[in-house]
Amino acid sequence: MKEPITLETLREKLKDWKGCALHKTANPVLGEGNPHATVMFIGEAPGQKEDELGRPFVGAAGQFLDELLGTIGIERKDVYISNVVKYRPPANRDPTPEEKEQCMPWLMLEMALIKPRVIVPLGRHALGHFFAKLSITDGHGKPQALRPAEGDKESVWAFPIYHPAAALHNGNLRQALFDDFKALKTFLDEQGIKPKP
Ligand code: URA
Repeated sequence: MKEPITLETLREKLKDWKGCALHKTANPVLGEGNPHATVMFIGEAPGQKEDELGRPFVGAAGQFLDELLGTIGIERKDVYISNVVKYRPPANRDPTPEEKEQCMPWLMLEMALIKPRVIVPLGRHALGHFFAKLSITDGHGKPQALRPAEGDKESVWAFPIYHPAAALHNGNLRQALFDDFKALKTFLDEQGIKPKP
């Protein structure tokens, strides 16, 4: 009998995976957090600190993400946090379309296991996979139906937000991020989605 796929088996399998050339220069970083999370944050790719520790969003952008979560009463352990690309691109360059495509099955498996009600694409790389024609400038802070409710299944939403690292380089985006997190909280409350299971 085949063993069931869990987050732990995914983590183990990712260590042996060679489907993306970035594995030659970086360590694998799968998502982490609450396996029953209703809200799943999706970033771009690990940075230096994430590569060192093998955990997502633990560097400067991650600290800002923790702060933003705190402003709406959510702790990091309540949600699930992952990335599109599972390895740090050299010198933190943008991931290529090929790298994003190669790594995407891991994110899809994480989503299939977590079954979030809301995904929060952080920045254009994560948003681009789900909504190819929507720019982060136009789509941030607004819910988009990812899968409309059908049968007895509830809707799944995307709520795009600027990438926290963008605000570290461009101070003007800082307030937009605080405002978008507030809008996310209002949306979760309106939908009756409790981020703390
Ligand atoms: N930026 C990301 O997109 N992901 C991380 O894990 C860290 C920084």
